[in-house]
Formats: sequence, C-alpha cells, structure tokens
Amino acid sequence: MIAEVVMRDGGRQGLSPGPKAIASGPARKGAQARDLHAAVAGLRGEVRFNASLRDLTSFHIGGPADVLCFPTDVDDLGRLVGQAKAAKVPIFVLGGTNLLVRDRGIRGLVVSLAKLTAIRDEPDSVVYAEGGVGMPTLMKHAITRSLTGLEWAAGIPGTLGGSVVMNAGTRLGEMRQVLKAVRLVDPKGKILDVPASAIRFTYRRAKLPRGIVAGAWLQLRPGSREQIETVVKDYLHHRRDTQPLAQPSAGCVFKNPPNDAAGRVIEAAGMKGARVGDAQVSEKHANFVVNLGQARAADVITLIKQVGRAVQEQTGITLELELKIVGQP
Ligand code: EPU
Repeated sequence: MIAEVVMRDGGRQGLSPGPKAIASGPARKGAQARDLHAAVAGLRGEVRFNASLRDLTSFHIGGPADVLCFPTDVDDLGRLVGQAKAAKVPIFVLGGTNLLVRDRGIRGLVVSLAKLTAIRDEPDSVVYAEGGVGMPTLMKHAITRSLTGLEWAAGIPGTLGGSVVMNAGTRLGEMRQVLKAVRLVDPKGKILDVPASAIRFTYRRAKLPRGIVAGAWLQLRPGSREQIETVVKDYLHHRRDTQPLAQPSAGCVFKNPPNDAAGRVIEAAGMKGARVGDAQVSEKHANFVVNLGQARAADVITLIKQVGRAVQEQTGITLELELKIVGQP
C-alpha cells in the first residue's frame, strides 16, 4: 500500500541518478555504505540496515532494503530526503499494499511513513492527516466526527499517502472527490502544499509534482453518523463476502478493463485457483493473488504472467497491472 503507500511511478522517485558506475567490488561497497550512512545521519526516527521488507507488506513477500527508515514527522522526512539527494542515494517510499517487492529487495533507502500518523480537524469539515495514516483509521475518525464523503474507502487497507498517489477508489467513489490539497516533500526535501485543482487525476493515478505525499487535506461534509456507519458496514460485508481478506495479498492485481471486471475475465479464462509455488489465484476473487505461506515474488510474477497470457488468448483482452512490482530484478 502501499499505499502504497506512496509514490509516483511505482515508487522510484528519481531522486538520484542511480547506482554509481565507476567504482566496483569492495571499493564500491565501501562508498555505498558511506553514502547510506550519510543519507540517514541524525535522523530522529528508527533506522535499520539490511532490513527485511517482508513483514511490512500486505503480501508478506519481499527481500531486504539496504536501509529502512521511519521518519518521525514531516520535518524528519524532509531532512532525510535532502540528505539522500546530497549523497545520491535512491529513495523508495514503501506503502506496502498493492505492492510486490522482488525477492532480491530494494537498493538504497526505503522509507516507511508508518510514524506519520497525525490527524487534525480543521474548520468547515476539513480533515488534515499525515501520509502514514491508515485509511481504516481515517474512516473511523470521520465516523466519530459524523463526517460524510469517505464511505467509498471502506475496506481499503492502505495509507492515505498511497491512496492519494493512486487516486484510490471503489465503485462508490474515489480520492479525487474529497481531496482538497496535498502536502509534499519535494526531491530536495522542501515542504510544498499543492491544491487539488493543480492535480490531474486519471483512473488510479494522481499526477502530482515529484515528491513524497507527507499529508493531505480532505474536504468532507457534515452527515448522519448512523447513515455513514450503515453504508460502511454494508460495504465491508460485501468485501468480506467477495474478497479473500483473511489471506495475505496485495489487493487487486489488474485494473478493470473498460466496461468489464478483471475478476470476471480471469475466471472466464479458467485461471481461478491456478498456482505457482505458494502463490495462488484466489478461489474467492480471481483478481487477487494470495500467498499460501512461503510464496516468493518470482512465483507471483510467473503466475501473473500466466494469467495475463490466458486472458489474452481466450478473450483478446490485454489486462493492465494495478499491482506495483518493485525492487531488484
Ligand atoms: N467477478 C467474477 N469472478 C471473480 C471476481 C469477480 O466473475 O472471481 C465478477 C463479479 O461477479 C462482479 C464483477 O466481477 O460481477 C466485479 O467484481 P467486484 O464487485 O468484486 O468488484 P471488482 O471490480 O472486482 C473493484 C475494485 C476493488 C474493490 C472492489 C469493491 C478494481 C480493479 N477493483 O473490484 O479494488 O475492492 O471493487 O467492491 O478497481 C483494489 O484496488 O486492490 C481492489 C481490490
């Protein structure tokens, strides 16, 4: 989730020109270790070197990050981004849902916004929340304040940051309908507020200036708590009945093709239940791949390719990935 959480272009922010080409072997490793330490120097939040990302993803799959950081607030994040840029270390912001991290992991710096969890009420039914706030938490907040407008997000597991970047949505609505403004940390580490009017939205994507979504203002409306709760509960029941929420997954793998549903065409192509290693096309909803225990990213990728090929051959439809695949091939 990802959100996902949280990045443009599937995560790679393009904050550095990439791996150094000149040095090699131990000399390069030493230089890289120095750069990594320089990038995280003085950070107030937690820093872990060679850290597994497996348990930070909803899929429970993925290799290590060279260094994983948990900035404590927006200023800490800004400092980290500025230092990483100076040290030419690439940054990836880990959402964790709707994301598959490859088995060899992610080089450079991986940032989790899990500590950016502040929520603040503002006048006129506006709520400001930091990028790491989980959508379920934000939903509960809106319910306790009797604010309507977020019901469409019932059951979306990711963070606010990821949901903004992805213009997350369901049949009931999507992020663009409530987004008022976004607080970004730009590639230099500066904080920048962008009004929603300056953002172009497409299906499952918000075209934002380069940067990390550190927070967002949502324009909600006063409503009836009882009505909001009824809509949310009904929708959650629908999801529990139709989606494999008890098994590790990354949500929907493919975007819905125009005027159709990916789950329907995958089932029609006979791929429901197909399996590679411990990765399986869910028996409950064919647009989910579930991890039966020890699935590797390579298993998921092989399975997804098989699904895409079967659908193409049998229906002529080319499915597009919604899932982001990141990390070292
Ligand atoms: N269907 C099948 N077989 C299946 C699954 C679905 O035939 O195995 C059919 C259903 O019967 C229905 C149609 O496909 O007629 C659509 O299914 P569903 O109502 O489950 O909705 P969806 O289009 O598959 C979308 C979002 C989900 C979101 C649900 C909320 C996309 C790609 N998917 O699913 O989002 O949870 O609506 O109801 O936009 C996600 O973004 O990760 C995600 C799962």
